[in-house]
Amino acid sequence: MATPILILGLFALICPLAFPSYASTLQDFCVANPNSQGLMSGLACKDPMMVGANDFFFSGLHLQGNTSNPLGSKVTPVNVAQAPGLLTLGISAVRIDYAPWGLNPPHTHPRASEILTVIEGTLYVGFVTSNPENRLITKTLQKGDVFVFPVNLIHFQYNVGPTNAIAIAALNSENPGVITIANALFGSNLPISSDVLAKAFQVDKMVVEDIQNKF
Ligand SMILES: *[C@@H]1O[C@H](CO)[C@@H](O)[C@H](O)[C@H]1NC(C)=O
Repeated sequence: MATPILILGLFALICPLAFPSYASTLQDFCVANPNSQGLMSGLACKDPMMVGANDFFFSGLHLQGNTSNPLGSKVTPVNVAQAPGLLTLGISAVRIDYAPWGLNPPHTHPRASEILTVIEGTLYVGFVTSNPENRLITKTLQKGDVFVFPVNLIHFQYNVGPTNAIAIAALNSENPGVITIANALFGSNLPISSDVLAKAFQVDKMVVEDIQNKF
C-alpha cells in the first residue's frame, strides 16, 4: 500500500525540481537562472555559490508608475522575473499607481490570493464570487486600509478620488499570473469569433466588433 508513496518520495528526492513542495524542505532557496532550460515556473536554479544579495533585491517601488494610458493605472511587479530569488518561495509584490479615476480593470490571478494596502488616495475595490451566486464583495478603501482578493476571483480597483492613488499588494506566488478579462476576451490573438462573444454577452455583433477594435 505504501509503495506508490515510497516511489513518489524517492523520485522527489532524486528530482527535487519537479516537486516544489518537496524542494522547499531540501534547500534554502532556488534562485532563478534565466539562461537555463527550466523545470520550476519555467526556470531552473542558479548554482548556489553564484547567488548574491542582488538575486533577492529589487529597487524601484519608490517610483511612480506611468499612468498615461487609457485605463489610468500602472502595475509595477516584483515577482520572479524581477527578483529571481523568489523562485519556489511562493510570494511576490506589486505597486499599483492610479491617476484620478484610474482603473486597475477586472482581472484574476490564477495562482495567487492578494492582500492590498492603500498607501495614498481612495479606492473603490471589489471581487465577484463564483457561479451561481456571482456576489459582488466591495468596499471603499482609504489610506492605510487593507483588502483581500481570494485566488482566482475576478477583482478590480478604481480610484474614486480627485488625486493620485497608490497601493502596495502582496501575492502568495512568485509567479501569480494575470488574466485581464477584457483583454482575454476581446483582445485575444487570434480574436474570438464575434458570433461567440455576441451570444455570450447577449449584444449585437457590432457592439462586440466595436470593443474588439479597441484592443
Ligand atoms: C508615459 O507613457 C506615455 C504613453 O506611453 C508616454 O508618451 C510618456 O512619454 C510616458 N511618460 C514618461 C514620463 O515616461
